[in-house]
Amino acid sequence: MSGGASAGEPGKEVDQISGLIPESVIEEVKARNELVAVVEQYVRLDKKSGSNFFGLCPFHEEKTPSFSVSPAKQIYYCFGCHKGGDVIHFIMDMEKCAYPQAIRLLAERAGVTIPEPDDVAWQQRNERNKALQAICLEAARHFYRDLMSPEGRSVQAYLKKRALSPAVCKKFGLGYARDEWDSLLRHLNSLGYKDEELLIQSGLFRRGKSGGLYDLFRHRLMFPIMDAMGRIIAFGGRVLDDSQPKYINSPETPIYSKGRHLYALNLAKTSKKGHLVVVEGYMDAIALHQAGVDQAVASLGTALTEYQAGLLRKYAEDVVLAYDADAAGQAATLRSLDILEQHDLKVTVLQVPEAKDPDEFIRLHGPERFHALIGKALPLLDYKLSVARAASTGDTGLDPVAYQDTACDILAQEKNAIVRELYATRLAEEISTSTEAVLQEIERRSEQPAKEGRPPTRTEQPARQQTEKTKQPLSREELYLLALVAVEPSMAVEADLRQDDFSPGPMQELAARVLARAAAGDLDTTVLIELCGDLTVRSIPLHDLISRVSMQLDELFGRQDIRQAAAEQLWRQRKYRLRSRLAELNKQLSEEIDTAARNQLLQETLQLNNRLTELKQMPDWQP
Ligand code: CTP
Ligand code: MN
Repeated sequence: MSGGASAGEPGKEVDQISGLIPESVIEEVKARNELVAVVEQYVRLDKKSGSNFFGLCPFHEEKTPSFSVSPAKQIYYCFGCHKGGDVIHFIMDMEKCAYPQAIRLLAERAGVTIPEPDDVAWQQRNERNKALQAICLEAARHFYRDLMSPEGRSVQAYLKKRALSPAVCKKFGLGYARDEWDSLLRHLNSLGYKDEELLIQSGLFRRGKSGGLYDLFRHRLMFPIMDAMGRIIAFGGRVLDDSQPKYINSPETPIYSKGRHLYALNLAKTSKKGHLVVVEGYMDAIALHQAGVDQAVASLGTALTEYQAGLLRKYAEDVVLAYDADAAGQAATLRSLDILEQHDLKVTVLQVPEAKDPDEFIRLHGPERFHALIGKALPLLDYKLSVARAASTGDTGLDPVAYQDTACDILAQEKNAIVRELYATRLAEEISTSTEAVLQEIERRSEQPAKEGRPPTRTEQPARQQTEKTKQPLSREELYLLALVAVEPSMAVEADLRQDDFSPGPMQELAARVLARAAAGDLDTTVLIELCGDLTVRSIPLHDLISRVSMQLDELFGRQDIRQAAAEQLWRQRKYRLRSRLAELNKQLSEEIDTAARNQLLQETLQLNNRLTELKQMPDWQP
């Protein structure tokens, strides 16, 4: 999934410092994180078949294990969903994070320290942010302990009344802020956090008239807010009765900006549902997760921000908006729709009938009926039209003039003529007029200049670029060849392997990298996977393709001598390359009319044909 380079790019700060992680540290991080051990933190690997482990794939839904890990090669590959790579790819896929974050996570796991940049200001900021995170974590522990203590009994009863199980409360780290002015302050002081400036910056305290600090959250049910990586960065606190304000939230702090996070994203990002459900409130998100809707996140306020839309796009292409049923919720839905569309997300709208919000709906009607609602969520246009219809319906019924006016405006925004016509037909029926009249009106309105500066949506993306990519040349031989050479690097020299033996484009690029490393005597399967970098062929990451063939080598060539196998694949590959160049020449010949140029092309064709004949039989190969 691509994170659109939009307004505010999530994770930017981390990316900026990524270039500063030295290569040697990355090597150490990889060396100290044994793949099987890392995978086992997420996947049960119990079936051993040959030299590989098998387990249920963490990346897609399955009943029989097709996810394999090779301890010898330190790579994984899923024969079901075709994801593969090394330990870093695994963490990137698992934690849905970028390369530098994956390195940091693995470094932390293995106790490798990443040297920090020499910039003093950066270091100070980093130190401070780490301290603020530590304070938030300690605060959450404190609130949780108090919830579980006898003092928290009434809050436990409140949670029970709201039908939240102890398990889900624990999963979300809910807590209780006691009805005292300095419960948290004293606790943090006792842990050595005494720097008042820092405590103020954490957003958990305020300074009183007398100059001392006091707790911001008192006598409230506490919701820790986590970032996508699961680090606690802020809190929300709800009253336990009907008093106002219902919620107070952490202010902006150096580690928390309102509107830049999505509540429960740290959990939802690993959902296998293939889409995300966006709700308004803490309570909705938690109730949904308890009901098995583990793809729910909350925007924690009204309309989604640009930043939140960008964040959603990083994790999903499809979003179901499930805001509150009240006017505020519906207004927020309308505002969010355009933002989501502009971020290239496919949106549908779920409306909860007979309840004020998803949380109440589930309590009244159960999870099953909510699952059904997700399936019935309205496409964008249907939703907008239904809102327009409701707005034009008064005591005397539908006002067709007002309705057609808004409806035609909405349909004029639709770019696809077929879709427009389909909806026009329906609208015409609703207001008892002809489809032609409606279409004419829509055309008239769409001729007026559209809003500018909107990025193209997925459906509008240039088709040419797509087909060029799907045509990229690739043979299975060249993939085998690279995987075999990684096992026997000396083959690269012995068989005189050249960049030109590979298909032009990404394969040649990878080959150049591989040949350089083979010449330097520094090549194995993990290095090969690493060299794949961001390269893709026909839009498929090369590290996925290479993992697959590396994983299959034993199966394919198990009984064969590796050198023999490599020599054979090289022979086949050279024939493949000759044939594709011949096909190219043929095409040029069919278009060329100039006699001299034609002769030149014919000469080349002849030469290539001769070479191909020479290659009819595999050259003798002495290992
Ligand atoms: N909110 C807020 N401050 C308020 C009211 C609401 O920050 N004074 C935010 C909270 O993040 C809240 C969300 O808006 O979760 C949605 O508000 P609401 O629907 O009123 O709250 P619920 O989460 O549904 O809580 P409950 O069901 O307990 O009323
Ligand atoms: Mn609610």
